[in-house]
Amino acid sequence: MEYRMVTEGSTTFAAPVQDENTQFPPGTAPVFYNTKMEFNRDMTVLLLSHLKPAEYLDSMAATGVRGLRVAHETGTPVIINDRDSAAVAMIEENAKLVGGDISVTCDDANRMMCGKYFDAIDLDPFGTPAPFFDAASRAARHYLFVTATDTAPLCGAHLKAGIRRYFATPKNTEYHAEVGLRMMMGAMAKELVKYDRGMEPILSFARNHYFRSHVRILNRVTGADATMGQIGFVMQCPKCLYRAEQKGSLLPKFHVCPYCGAETEPIGPLWMGSLQDKEIVASMIETLPTMQFGTAKQMDKVLRLLLAEPDVCTFYDYHVISRNIRVSPPPMDEMIAGLNELGYYTVRTHFSVTGIKTSAPLPVIEEWIAAWNEKLGLP
Ligand SMILES: C[S@@+](CC[C@H](N)C(=O)[O-])C[C@H]1O[C@@H](n2cnc3c(N)ncnc32)[C@H](O)[C@@H]1O
Repeated sequence: MEYRMVTEGSTTFAAPVQDENTQFPPGTAPVFYNTKMEFNRDMTVLLLSHLKPAEYLDSMAATGVRGLRVAHETGTPVIINDRDSAAVAMIEENAKLVGGDISVTCDDANRMMCGKYFDAIDLDPFGTPAPFFDAASRAARHYLFVTATDTAPLCGAHLKAGIRRYFATPKNTEYHAEVGLRMMMGAMAKELVKYDRGMEPILSFARNHYFRSHVRILNRVTGADATMGQIGFVMQCPKCLYRAEQKGSLLPKFHVCPYCGAETEPIGPLWMGSLQDKEIVASMIETLPTMQFGTAKQMDKVLRLLLAEPDVCTFYDYHVISRNIRVSPPPMDEMIAGLNELGYYTVRTHFSVTGIKTSAPLPVIEEWIAAWNEKLGLP
């Protein structure tokens, strides 16, 4: 296999040569390597420099880049695994090159996680991580990290696949990115609680074509019960932009939109709890300048957004609201400042460049936007 040397963070490793003239270059080489996931890996390395687990299993490693970086940049002992022998040959060469406390295995991730325990487990499959949740829920002692790239099923574009994989019903709304992340996390929670275990999210986000969540595992029944308490539904009006949150694992009772009288539709079950451990996110922002990351600038921006986001399960798209009431969208910062002046905590969200997270009810946002249009004499 032809390879080239690549540096991510402060780690240099071999990656396969790809055909850069195709739509998806990682698909053209025998071993997978996606440069677009550097941000995702940078985030994990930064987080692990704070968590310092006893060991870290990179269960689906391809070139091994994630595990190699964790070993080299955080000093954590790592186990790097892939079921593909070409990938494992590359990981072995890379492990020799990078050095550190690295063991390499060639196994099916599910088989490997049966009857063995690892302090932190990372699932980074092609597409859905759902088939690995059960084994990982038993094998992860303290931390579970998951990437899902099957955004179409998680966001409601491939409805049946989403329902099958995650046992939840998504819906293609303007806040589908948040639904996708919370649906994946809801499925993680569901698998953990059956073993009387629970989870507490540390760092979770949606980006481009993937979702990523890092959670701390709670090893007590009380933790499992607390986790169950964070499962619920978003009740979305099919006719207007009204939505409400309802906790509970059972399908909510008949619920009517207070604005237009239509029967709302349940989206979920979803993880309705917080997405971040804000103390850890704040310390990640502080230590970021001391690290050598290719995506540091984007990381700083996203981490600051995550820190400010309130624990509400949806966001509004102010362009969609403006279009709905047939007026022009105002400048975003002016609108955010205006709603904050009215006493409603309002911030941008990492989920969408036109999204706001706010404690303001929909009619208040609509009124503010309409008043801004009137003030400027806009039609
Ligand atoms: C998306 S790639 C991993 C990318 C890698 N973590 C990175 O950051 O570059 C998925 C990898 O999982 C491996 N894989 C798929 N199913 C697996 C399984 N059941 N057990 C172990 N490895 C598996 C594939 O061979 C492939 O190398």
